[in-house]
Amino acid sequence: MKILLDKNAGFCFGVKNAVAQTLKTIKSSNGQKVFTYGPLIHNQQVIENLRKMGVIEIESISDNIDSNSIIIIRSHGVPKSILEKMISKGINVVNCTCPFVSRIHKIVEEKYNDHYKILIAGDENHPEVIGINGWCNNEAIVIDDEKKVDKLSYYDKICLVAQTTFSKNLWHRIKERVKDKFKDVEVFDTICNATENRQKSVTELAQSVDAMIVIGGFNSSNTKKLYEIAKQFCNDTYHIETAKDLAKEKLIKAHTVGITAGASTPDWIIKEVLIKMQDFNNENIMEEYEKSFRSLYPGET
Ligand code: F3S
Repeated sequence: MKILLDKNAGFCFGVKNAVAQTLKTIKSSNGQKVFTYGPLIHNQQVIENLRKMGVIEIESISDNIDSNSIIIIRSHGVPKSILEKMISKGINVVNCTCPFVSRIHKIVEEKYNDHYKILIAGDENHPEVIGINGWCNNEAIVIDDEKKVDKLSYYDKICLVAQTTFSKNLWHRIKERVKDKFKDVEVFDTICNATENRQKSVTELAQSVDAMIVIGGFNSSNTKKLYEIAKQFCNDTYHIETAKDLAKEKLIKAHTVGITAGASTPDWIIKEVLIKMQDFNNENIMEEYEKSFRSLYPGET
């Protein structure tokens, strides 16, 4: 069995930074309580490890969070009102909003103030989209399907942005419909390169293998998209969270297996999967891939 690891598998820049900043904050917290606003990343295993290190997840800023607390804002970002509330309470904020997401906040805030109707191509329940909407007074319309464009009322000025992890193909279809329907449309392609590169490379990889494994949280939006893309080109595609989910009987007949992982999947989980695959395989695949792995978490030495 030949194993091909996607060169773009695993942590993206924004997630790597959020995890590294969190570990640094825990080390230097000096007795202060460390909170994350929502789970830091969409990966249960990483979240459990952070909990063991004393990090507490919150979903709102309650009264018992005071100026002696540290709150970490995850890479998805938060609505403007939440950030302002944290600052007004004197809380120490470690803002790990990915710069690509902050750019979207800036765009929608400016365009909203300039009387544009904001359209977001994305999932309305995703924290990144909730955060973006919070920078235009929660008045954006969120669409996840080009057919929904036809049902929209008419607006004179439209500003269209995308969730950073949105599907590139769907984005193109939505963009064209929006441009057909409205006269004055400003389009900002805010799908981030990390997402685009992953989607491109999984498309290529899935076409050249007998089976595909996509590693990542079952609640991770970008991992689910990688799975959907891979499945289009390779019928034997499996979404797993950890090595425990690997089913030998499903893979054993494959001559070539491709492996990719979502942007919130740490190296150590990918590594565990490769080690388990090696057991199926009797070949030392780890030597080949060892150099790609840095450490348990980025930022650790
Ligand atoms: Fe940032 Fe892109 Fe990752 S927006 S959090 S680098 S998927």
